[in-house]
Parts: sequence; structure tokens; C-alpha cells
Amino acid sequence: MVAETKGHSSEKKVRVLAVDDVPDGEARRVTIEDQKIAIVRIHDQMYAIGDMCSHAKYSLSEGPVDTTDVTIECWKHGAQFSLCDGKPVSLPATQPVPVFNVEIDKGEVYVLIPESQDS
Ligand code: FES
Repeated sequence: MVAETKGHSSEKKVRVLAVDDVPDGEARRVTIEDQKIAIVRIHDQMYAIGDMCSHAKYSLSEGPVDTTDVTIECWKHGAQFSLCDGKPVSLPATQPVPVFNVEIDKGEVYVLIPESQDS
């Protein structure tokens, strides 16, 4: 389902979906090598953030996106996470979730996965 190509030497570049697969202001969950990642679209910008809330392991991609504050909210208890750095900006979560670099090429979305996370 996903196509893999080599990006930078320390990153694996993985196609996850097309920009048009994600409506503006929404998120879609993808899985790369057992790692669940929420792909979030705000206008023409795409973000990739670990899908698992750091508070109690609920899926962030099922929560609402704030396109003004550039955050996604966990639907379970309401913690909001920055889509830019993964840090929680509201309680009850206190620990960050990972974020990944994203590239867009010809309408396709690629996530750059650090090679060190492969093994
Ligand atoms: S599970 Fe996400 S805030 Fe509690």
C-alpha cells in the first residue's frame, strides 16, 4: 500500500497517501512498519504526528484539528498537541508525541522516517 524510496541517508522516504485523500482540517491514520502516524492537512500544508496520545494511548487522528493553532486534540480527554513539534499544549497529556518531516511531490505525500527507528 505504501511505496518506499530512499530519502536522505538517515531517513527512509515513504509514500503514505495523496494530498487529496485528506480533507482540509482533517486527519487520516496511516501505518508505516507497525508505527501508526496521523497525517493532518491544514490548507496545503501536511503534518505527520505520532497517532498515539501520550496520555492514555488513544488515536489522535480521530480527534479534531485546530487549523488556527495548528494542533490536534485527543478526543478522549482533550489534550491538544502541536502539529509542529508534538508537544502537548494542554493537559492532561504532559509528554510529547513524535513528529515526522513531510514532503509533497506531485500531489503525493511522503513521510521521512528516521532509519534508526527501523530496527
Ligand atoms: S488519552 Fe489523550 S488526553 Fe487522555
